[in-house]
Order: sequence, then structure tokens, then C-alpha cells
Amino acid sequence: MVYVSRKEHFNAAHKLYNPAWSFERNKEVFGPCANENWHGHNFELIVTVKGTPDPDTGFVIDLKKLSTLIRVEVTDKLDHKNLNLDVPFMKDKLASCENLAMEIWKILAPEISAISKYGVLHSIRLYETPRNYVEYFGE
Ligand code: NI
Repeated sequence: MVYVSRKEHFNAAHKLYNPAWSFERNKEVFGPCANENWHGHNFELIVTVKGTPDPDTGFVIDLKKLSTLIRVEVTDKLDHKNLNLDVPFMKDKLASCENLAMEIWKILAPEISAISKYGVLHSIRLYETPRNYVEYFGE
């Protein structure tokens, strides 16, 4: 089994805010991330596909196709957007890195299987800051 990864980048704004809670409670739990007037991150998204290489190409997945897929289906919909307000697949969800990684998995898993006979999605790794990241393996 070989693991192939592609890294993409996007900028987005969000706030962490649970509407079921008081302002004070949100502030206590989320700290500055609950700031009413939003804040932004430079996100790095690493998509890893696993499989055995296609004997005709030596590729698990064509990385050019994977890059286009991630851009069209995910990063174009997130880049320079507000995760709480502008992104249909994040509607009514807390705009956390965890939830975002899980939604990205749901979008990409079937699309990757559609463009690669030999690879399947293995993981979504989403960096919110250089030191904080979330990984999701689909379970
Ligand atoms: Ni944040």
C-alpha cells in the first residue's frame, strides 16, 4: 500500500460560537475564537490517498487530477470565505476545524474513487495554524 498526498491552501474567516449558549459561556469556552467580528486563518489542507500503483502509469492517483478536484470541490468554495456564513456545507454546524475536516472527507471520498481505479481516500489533515491540525480517517 502506498500513500500519496497533495497539499492545498486557502484562507477563511470564522468564529466559534454555539448559539444555544450565552455570550459569556461562548467567551469562556472559545476565548478569542468567539470574537463576534470574526477572525481568519491560513489553512493548509493535506489530502492523502492510499492504494496500489496502476501498472500502466505507476500512479496511485494522478496528482494533477487530485489537485483540480480539491480546488474545484473544496478550496474554491472555502477560499476568502466566511465559514459560518458563506459555505453551504458548513451551514448550521460549528465552524471548527474538526467539523470542516469531516465535511471535506464527505465531499472528496466519492469523487476520489470516481477519478482513480487504484486509490481511495485515506485521510484529511487540516492545519488551522502551523501548530494546530486535525486529522480525519473517515470513521
Ligand atoms: Ni479560529
